Amino acid sequence: MDENRIINNIDDLPVLPEIILKINEVLQNSEVNVDEIAEIIEKDSSLSTKVLRLANSSYYGLASQVDSISRAIIVLGFNTICNVATSVGVSAIFKEQYKNIGIDLAGLWLHTLGCAVASKVIISVKNANDAEKAFVCGILHDIGKIIIAKVFPTEQRKIFDALIKSKKTICEVEEEIIGTNHAKVGFAIGKKWKFPDYILDVIRFHHNPSLSTVAPDVASAVHLGNAISKALSLGVSTDSRVSIINPFLWEQLYIKEETIPLLIKDVQNEFDLAMEFWMEI
Ligand SMILES: [Fe+2]
Repeated sequence: MDENRIINNIDDLPVLPEIILKINEVLQNSEVNVDEIAEIIEKDSSLSTKVLRLANSSYYGLASQVDSISRAIIVLGFNTICNVATSVGVSAIFKEQYKNIGIDLAGLWLHTLGCAVASKVIISVKNANDAEKAFVCGILHDIGKIIIAKVFPTEQRKIFDALIKSKKTICEVEEEIIGTNHAKVGFAIGKKWKFPDYILDVIRFHHNPSLSTVAPDVASAVHLGNAISKALSLGVSTDSRVSIINPFLWEQLYIKEETIPLLIKDVQNEFDLAMEFWMEI
């Protein structure tokens, strides 16, 4: 089935909180200011509490306490705060909305977090300014898998069986069994949620970063971050095989293969810090 038909014809799609949609909408307006974003986040006390907890956690290691959302935006920046808010909103889909859909959602959430942390560490080698973009894209990269598991439970089991038996990639197996793949389905729901272009592009091309036209650096970081998260067994992906790394990305990201052990150490350290916050929310 075509991915747009899946997204447009299913009543029980995961719900992204209205507030997250609003934040992403406002962010696409170039005139956005601190107070406007702070006001939106503060309207949701649960979200603002979580954002402040993260801002004050050892993950960001700030020298002094941050006690308001406006202050958090000033200290950590728009992108960080908005991506944190989006990630918090998406985590609810893994944790609450889609229970009992036949995949290990807790394991997939941890894998997702591992990928997000790894993507952030990897992209920081080239451009630390894109770190938060890489994190939120890492959180969202496999959102299509959750929808496929929900909409096609029987086919999902066939996909798992085929992955064990064949050497085909997960996207190839999904295409054979349901006529689309999780990257395309994730792209389609991301469009429905009006995510910015760079997030849509990374979800779509996280298995083929060389096809990315909008955000090739971030797509490459998420591609490698996904592999590192699997290699370190951070959580449980629905396809635990470590995929072949697209050689395109070494040059794209200014990474030499011999520096990978060092990067992996950083990923593990950052993941331990990230767990302190993200496992509690
Ligand atoms: Fe994927």
